[in-house]
Amino acid sequence: MMKKIIVILLSLIMIFGLAACGNSASTEETNAPDVQGSKVLVTYFSATGNTEGIAEHIASGLNADIYEIVPEEPYTDADLNYSDNNSRTTIEMNDPDALPAISGSVENMEKYTVVFIGYPIWWGDAPRIVSTFVESYDFSGKIIVPFCTSGSSDIGSSAADLEQLTSGAEWLSGKRLSGSDSQDTVMEWVNSLGLNFEE
Ligand SMILES: Cc1cc2nc3c(=O)[nH]c(=O)nc-3n(C[C@H](O)[C@H](O)[C@H](O)COP(=O)(O)O)c2cc1C
Repeated sequence: MMKKIIVILLSLIMIFGLAACGNSASTEETNAPDVQGSKVLVTYFSATGNTEGIAEHIASGLNADIYEIVPEEPYTDADLNYSDNNSRTTIEMNDPDALPAISGSVENMEKYTVVFIGYPIWWGDAPRIVSTFVESYDFSGKIIVPFCTSGSSDIGSSAADLEQLTSGAEWLSGKRLSGSDSQDTVMEWVNSLGLNFEE
């Protein structure tokens, strides 16, 4: 008789145990949309390749999508000459309202929750084409992570200036990186952001 009771008790424990397992599996399924929601896009503008290298480190480190902000009219060496008062970049940077045109666009921006935005520092600021980029999309509800490369300048107020052009997004504090930083250095910073990048 005692044996029978023990067998029945053990069976009940197993049945409830299995039911519990079943529950936890279905909880995971319910959470799936949240996890999918943390999809990351790394966007960047780069005239001479430094910011591009950093963007590639981030995208490959996070297995994220990457998008290059490509000017409709490419910047020539003459355009980039900051010693020339009449060069295209000098003229653009002297005009806070300049919005140089971009060729192409991000497909399905709505599917990304975290958007990195990378750019070189030009005259202490973000190139005006990055203003065109941030004005072109609805970033509300997204987390934006600005980063830049430069000769030596820090990120300064460049990211705060870009933030003014968006609404409803959470901008994390930005980071200045050196174009020659290794992937390990770059990912150390990315991992320090404390974001959940799991796919
Ligand atoms: C027009 C222009 C202005 C620049 N102004 C600055 C500056 O104010 N401070 C600085 O440290 N570097 C400045 N630089 C250097 C760039 O920020 C640096 O080379 C950057 O890494 C270039 O990135 P990229 O290769 O992705 O275009 C300037 C470069 C250009 C072309």
